[in-house]
Amino acid sequence: MAHTTTVHTADTLVIGSGIAGLWATLKAADRGTVLALTKKEKSESNTNYAQGGIAGVVDPDDDFESHVRDTLEAGAGLCHEDAVRVLVTEGPDRIRDLIDFGARFTMIRDEHGERLALGREGGHSRRRIVHAKDLTGREIERALLNAVRLHDRVTIRENHIALDLIVRDNICLGAVALDRESREVEVCLASATILCTGGVGQVYPHTTNPEIATGDGVAMAWRAGATMANLEFIQFHPTAMYHPEAKSFLISEAVRGEGGILRLKDGSTFMEKYHPLACLAPRDIVARAIDAEVKQRGEECAYLDVTHIPEETLVERFPHIVSRCREYGIDPARQWIPVTPAAHYSCGGVVTDLYGRTSIERLYASGEVTCTGVHGANRLASNSLLEAVVFSERAVQSAASLARIDTSGIDVPIPGGDKETDDVSPLLNRLREVMWQHVAIVRTDAGLASATREVAAIRSEIENVYQRSKPGGTLTEARNIAAVAALICRCATTRLESRGLHYNTDHPERDNTNWLRDTVVANGEGATV
Ligand code: FAD
Ligand code: SIN
Repeated sequence: MAHTTTVHTADTLVIGSGIAGLWATLKAADRGTVLALTKKEKSESNTNYAQGGIAGVVDPDDDFESHVRDTLEAGAGLCHEDAVRVLVTEGPDRIRDLIDFGARFTMIRDEHGERLALGREGGHSRRRIVHAKDLTGREIERALLNAVRLHDRVTIRENHIALDLIVRDNICLGAVALDRESREVEVCLASATILCTGGVGQVYPHTTNPEIATGDGVAMAWRAGATMANLEFIQFHPTAMYHPEAKSFLISEAVRGEGGILRLKDGSTFMEKYHPLACLAPRDIVARAIDAEVKQRGEECAYLDVTHIPEETLVERFPHIVSRCREYGIDPARQWIPVTPAAHYSCGGVVTDLYGRTSIERLYASGEVTCTGVHGANRLASNSLLEAVVFSERAVQSAASLARIDTSGIDVPIPGGDKETDDVSPLLNRLREVMWQHVAIVRTDAGLASATREVAAIRSEIENVYQRSKPGGTLTEARNIAAVAALICRCATTRLESRGLHYNTDHPERDNTNWLRDTVVANGEGATV
């Protein structure tokens, strides 16, 4: 293995520039130098595509207990109540901080003056979603990136993909990264590392997530020996657009919050059979209902009908969705929008405590890469942007108490070999199809066993290519997708019941006697669950 020469040092290393990473960057920069790595351009993240909004108790008529109750109810018994209480009670302050950082959320004016407009989404018993029309994530990214730009202690490196964490004696010292343009491997050392790499949607062929969501942080932390949990709980959003060119474009749940109705091809409604909240039932229930109804009838998709909502209201509230639908030849004011479930969010990930600490010293994590205990077996809509800001804030507070670490003299080998990279995309496509067929919305024991075998075989082929090839961004992502797929299979195979987002027809009931607990994978690859 070769050894590298380019070394960067900072007080804090942040990996990722979505909401979790930018918040951590901003807050850590108040206390010292920050190096932030991001594998594409700065704004490219799941955050940037968030539509519905950020949940929070900001209406005087709302109360913390109600938000806590809704979160626990969605989480199907597995939420950690202490984490949920932190999320809900600190959330409103973080939303105010976002506004102070310049985020312009949608306001309404009435006889009482001007206040935040609040949307409604599935599983929420009332309106509490702060939003910027249907481009909430883009507005948050814009505001946070602006604030970061003003900070002279921050260096953001775009097109730098972290390949692996540097961990010695269970202490994290930073990460090895690849400059995707120069193809040089660099070593980034820091007293604290905050992992904010986001989600895993690209493990599946149909996903609302952009291409960056390849589970890098989950895979890196797992390889480094961090404790992981609950990767079986992958959330499938019920209403991604069904269109050959739309790449699973999301039709926000907020559309149902404003009265959108789910229908089948013949116009019949069906959600009332599945849940008292009908179209606004928690996401797992809506996604499974669509899946079941559509399969039963041999149809391709369900439909979201908003034709009864006045066109001006639709355009005013959902300008982005309306214009994207029209680009694809569907006018939502007049036609039903074809929809289908797609992989959307990972409730599991790197286990953290209430201060973002992982099981590895000096390694913190925040955002979708984590399992904070907030989401349990199913995330309540719009709780993830909130989780990212609440726990990034806490992670930085905790990291501030760390003494500086001496990283001089650390020898870091460059990963990989010296051959040009083989194309692993056929392997990756096969893996994604296997995950879609066997480890998606409905699972079986036999399907999980077969997926576990196939994923292991594909993963080992990709790993062989990785070990002999020059480091490459796409290859690294394929390696990580395969690792995350293996972890999802492992967690899903272990849980012999159905709960929240994990539904196995061979164990269709919730089993509180044996499974009212997290699926924890500790001590790295070889460990048992
Ligand atoms: P991300 O925003 O995904 O950021 C991850 C960052 O890490 C990116 O900058 C990425 O480039 C970088 N990165 C990843 N790997 C590496 C690596 N190896 N090296 C360097 N950089 C790396 N949630 C809500 O609460 N409300 C919503 O309305 C909402 N709508 C959504 C709509 C869509 C279409 C999607 C996809 C998600 C939505 N979510 C929503 C979920 C929410 O957006 C995400 O969970 C949240 O934004 C995750 O933030 P994050 O900072 O953890 O990760
Ligand atoms: C949406 O707008 O439907 C997504 C909200 C979320 O994922 O929380």
